[in-house]
Amino acid sequence: MDKKNIDWENLGFGYIPTDKRYVANFKDGKWDEGALIDDPNIVMNECAGVLQYAQTIFEGLKAYTTEDGHIVTFRPDLNGQRMEDSARRLEMPVFPADRFVEAVEQTVRANAAYVPPFGSGATLYVRPYMFGINPVIGVKPADEYQFRVFTTPVGPYFKGGVKPLTLCVSDFDRAAPNGTGHIKAGLNYAMSLHAIVTAHANGYDENMYLDSATRTKVEETGGANFIFVTKDQKVVTPHSNTILPSITRRSLLYVAEHYLGLEVEERDVYLDEVKDFAECGLCGTAAVISPVGKIVDHGKEICLPSGMEKMGPTIQKLYDTLTGIQMGRIEAPKGWIKVIV
Ligand SMILES: Cc1ncc(COP(=O)(O)O)c(C=O)c1O
Repeated sequence: MDKKNIDWENLGFGYIPTDKRYVANFKDGKWDEGALIDDPNIVMNECAGVLQYAQTIFEGLKAYTTEDGHIVTFRPDLNGQRMEDSARRLEMPVFPADRFVEAVEQTVRANAAYVPPFGSGATLYVRPYMFGINPVIGVKPADEYQFRVFTTPVGPYFKGGVKPLTLCVSDFDRAAPNGTGHIKAGLNYAMSLHAIVTAHANGYDENMYLDSATRTKVEETGGANFIFVTKDQKVVTPHSNTILPSITRRSLLYVAEHYLGLEVEERDVYLDEVKDFAECGLCGTAAVISPVGKIVDHGKEICLPSGMEKMGPTIQKLYDTLTGIQMGRIEAPKGWIKVIV
């Protein structure tokens, strides 16, 4: 298979249509068998449920080329399960996780020419999503839905090297207690746009959201979970039912414990104790881990000892081990790597 003529190293994170996308329709109470199609455009009624009441959920994962030349994805079953959870919370029909994995596999295989070569640092980003498509004017769940998967090649995350981020403690809330913070619904991201635009305008890279009930505990950013390292090398992550259960964070905790022999703690993390940590990172599919160098809480600066030049040593080890597992240099736990080609 010939690769597309793309300057892989200089790709950004943008949308480039690829040859095929997957679509399945839910109608009369059931999903059809689904198919790969060519047209990247969707025509829908002006009153479609997604347009009026934002009934839409999504997932994000990557396909990439391993050192030995296979095209693989990382734990897509967990994305499928998370999408099932998201669907239930928004009263949408569940697209079963096994069909989800199959749809991702078909779409990646059909777009294999767009999967960047090993060593480029670039990947094929995979975006499964689902939305209510029939006309809905009274506030209620749609009756008809579309599940789709498209792919788009994206560039290396750390172009020009790793740069630790500066965060601000946000005055905005991301998720309400008993709300939708734990699912991947478009609505969580629509309401975060004002907060991120404000943070950027004030010179920060990202927001640190606190729990909205007490505003004392660390939750997450708009697109990643937190991971902290204590001065005695314990790996600590916030436990909260209003954050998205990051697949990267869950994988890193496993790696910390079973590959690196570190103690791990999932617990309440108070803003007051952040000044005592040795390292901080943001974890998610996009970067695996981005180091955080500084957190600004209303003018008060918390400078992580790992500094503004590089990743801290433990976060670096976690990063190297997980990316080693993903790329096939380090043996993966059973079921983590799904070989597609
Ligand atoms: C709000 C939020 N938290 C965390 C994550 C990281 O999750 P994952 O590691 O599954 O990509 C994401 C990205 O998907 C996100 O949007």
